[in-house]
Amino acid sequence: MNRKYRKAIIAGNWKMNTKPSEVKAFIEELRGLSNRTKWCETVICAPFTHLTVASRAFWNGHVSLGAQNMSEHPKGAYTGEVSAEMLRDVGVKYVIIGHSERRQYFGETDLTVNKKILAALEADLHPIVCVGESLEQRELGLTNELISYQVRAALAGVPADKLRKIVIAYEPIWAIGTGNTATAEQADEVCSLIRALVRGLYGARLARAMPILYGGSMNEKNAEELLAKPDIDGGLIGGASLVPEKFAAIINAANQE
Ligand code: 13P
Repeated sequence: MNRKYRKAIIAGNWKMNTKPSEVKAFIEELRGLSNRTKWCETVICAPFTHLTVASRAFWNGHVSLGAQNMSEHPKGAYTGEVSAEMLRDVGVKYVIIGHSERRQYFGETDLTVNKKILAALEADLHPIVCVGESLEQRELGLTNELISYQVRAALAGVPADKLRKIVIAYEPIWAIGTGNTATAEQADEVCSLIRALVRGLYGARLARAMPILYGGSMNEKNAEELLAKPDIDGGLIGGASLVPEKFAAIINAANQE
């Protein structure tokens, strides 16, 4: 983290877990365990079915509401899809775009990711854009090249005045749900590469202000070490965000004086 330039973000990605009826109790428990907000914004990216109830439960709380996906289209005959405006209307602030699970299981490409980012910005949402390499790609030495391509493709056509809304999350696929967290050095190296790329595209001031998160088996034990790195501005957390004690411990690590 670099507190001079950026506020940290600790974002939970609940994926397809929990039920809407469980949201209120979770938030109350979390609030009891962690109510510090000075250095970090807490976000929960919940399934679509949870958003309305979550929006009420988060109201006046310390948690911002996020979604996990959205349509690239503004509206129309797209059965089963949810638009950026719909998310905005129920109080969503952040939306995860291009998670590796969306790319892997639902055919999302760098092109669709770019379209979704532009659509999210149009509706005034903050995209949390996920990039990351597979184990094979890392072993072949392709990580930097691949991340550079993913970031450039994601940001294509994004004007400088909208860049401030964007958060990038580096999530190595081999670290997601596996317990194999990237070392703090590995994670920071890629996060700083991303910042250097953004600097090249948009200049130092905007690059300095961009929150860049790490995701992949981040938990209450390794959070402090990861967050101590200068270019890691927070985390996108799966499994550990489902357990109030663990999620609170990560939030508290980000808020430590
Ligand atoms: P885990 O924290 O469960 O590894 O998941 C990370 C992730 O995919 C967050 O988006």
